[in-house]
Amino acid sequence: MEHFKVIFQPEIGEVAVLAGITLMEVINDAGFELDFPCGGMGRCGKCRVKISKGVRPPTIREQDLLEAGEVEDGVRLACLTKVQNDMVVELAVDKKLKHNILMISEARSVDIKPHLQKIFVNVEKPMLHDQRSDWRRIKDSLLKNGYEYNDLKVPIPVLRQIPAIIREAEHSITLVTNGNEVLGIESQDTSKKMLGMAVDIGTTTVVGYLLDLYSGKVLGVASTLNPQTRFGADVISRVNFAGQDEDGLNKLQKTVIEAINRLIGEAAEEAGVSRSDIYGISIAANTCMHHLFLGITPENIAVAPYVPATGEPVVAAAAELCLEINSGGRVFVLPNIAGFVGADTTAVLLAAELERSEDIKLIIDIGTNGEIALGSKAGIAACSAAAGPAFEGAQISSGMRGADGAIDHVYFAERLEYSVIGGGTPLGICGSALLDTVAGLVELGVVDKRGRILTADKLSNSAAKRFAEHVVEHEGQPAFLLVSADKTGYGRPIMCTQSDIRELQLAKGAMAAGVKVLMEKLGIQTGDIKEVLLAGAFGNYLNPHSACVIGLIPMELEEQIRMIGNAAGTGARLALLSSDEYRRAGDIAGAVEFVELGSYPKFNRIFGECTYFTVQAKE
Ligand code: FES
Repeated sequence: MEHFKVIFQPEIGEVAVLAGITLMEVINDAGFELDFPCGGMGRCGKCRVKISKGVRPPTIREQDLLEAGEVEDGVRLACLTKVQNDMVVELAVDKKLKHNILMISEARSVDIKPHLQKIFVNVEKPMLHDQRSDWRRIKDSLLKNGYEYNDLKVPIPVLRQIPAIIREAEHSITLVTNGNEVLGIESQDTSKKMLGMAVDIGTTTVVGYLLDLYSGKVLGVASTLNPQTRFGADVISRVNFAGQDEDGLNKLQKTVIEAINRLIGEAAEEAGVSRSDIYGISIAANTCMHHLFLGITPENIAVAPYVPATGEPVVAAAAELCLEINSGGRVFVLPNIAGFVGADTTAVLLAAELERSEDIKLIIDIGTNGEIALGSKAGIAACSAAAGPAFEGAQISSGMRGADGAIDHVYFAERLEYSVIGGGTPLGICGSALLDTVAGLVELGVVDKRGRILTADKLSNSAAKRFAEHVVEHEGQPAFLLVSADKTGYGRPIMCTQSDIRELQLAKGAMAAGVKVLMEKLGIQTGDIKEVLLAGAFGNYLNPHSACVIGLIPMELEEQIRMIGNAAGTGARLALLSSDEYRRAGDIAGAVEFVELGSYPKFNRIFGECTYFTVQAKE
């Protein structure tokens, strides 16, 4: 079959590819990190590349999604462009786009109680007059040393190893056990060495913490973008891919397992240890990522009544899931609460110990599906709000993820100021900057309570008039210009359009309505809430004042807001360090009252009210 050459610039690489495959496939296979927010469906228009040689006429979708000037300049969508000749392609990002991945995770103290045990024992040597089997002699030696293990079971793979290891070790061995099952046998005394990896699988990122399972110390941290993104940026696109592609589920599972294996390798290298010293992995993930990790179809999560395959903790052999750690290693998957409130929320609740709290707390993990939990030891209710992708910068005209080049904060001082992740030329805005922009415009009175951008002649106060020249018209609708085209990396202006504000109103309206419904359900008033804990990446980077101004969080609670970092990662760590905490996670998941917002009687009215802005413009 015919091959063509695709050269990626600037100085990124050259790839020989089969005719007819898309640039998206080439980019993914080569490991270049370009985002495909709609999973390559040709809907979002975000996978722009510039083809400086070998460009072909645009497709109808490209004509719709790209501006005329861009099309003329050779800009095309990577997911819609098939390689049919040699090409030179300019990626506007580095080969490895650096994403801001939240790895900070403060674990509370915990009584360590490892899931697995290690027992060092000197086994009596066989003699002509003592022909007990190897296994019999191991059990007898254990008994002699005070271990009551009469019903100890040894699986065939371990049994096969015993004759060689016991002799090579001159009868000094260490057994790895899980309850009354032997998981492994090791030569000599390794009883002081047992490591584990706590993994938080997010829709966008995967973070792994390498832990010493005896001291609880973090030995290494590694993270990556979830490579499943190439099959779709959000949960629903991946569910669709799993159902529609012939081998979709398998591909998604394999992709995330490979990513975790890579993280294990990186963390082990950083700590100077071997993979085989790792015996346990704990997993916190939203329900869809949980199912994909285990190779379970997620299709029923995406359709009413949104039922997950399991809400129990799942323990599996690492080998069964192709996880490259000690061959006897075990995987401890935290339990889901509901179809859209997953094991990651269970992990957050475990980390925050909400079920033991005297005070009422509100916990929010903001994302495409924002999870909200409210309560105390008297009871916890949780829900999932379909916020859509606005907070993650998707479906926003100049939106992008929190990666190098993204404007992450906007300030309305004497003039407009902003900060850019990585410090370079801005390429777009991420969710936290969108929040700042809209909050600033609301406070200035440039955006009214319904979310309309007022034209320059309607701006009444002097502070707003300072920014009048930023109010422009873009494709027939009002917009607020943040950065002019000549100052951006893509050569296109970065702006916040009327449609972007509408998207944000829907997203914040969904989250705020979720909070209101939970408060109603539990009979809690705003004043009863003692603390608002923001979990997850977006919550960690957003400006709390902006979140309150737009009404995402009640204004009265601004002083009570605290960021708790990657709390799902913290929960995964706790569940790995202590079998009691893992059991506790099971109890939490079983005790939380899940509230389905869609079937809450007044939800539509509450949601509608929450899309408005209520903060008065400053004079
Ligand atoms: S248009 Fe290509 S990924 Fe969305």
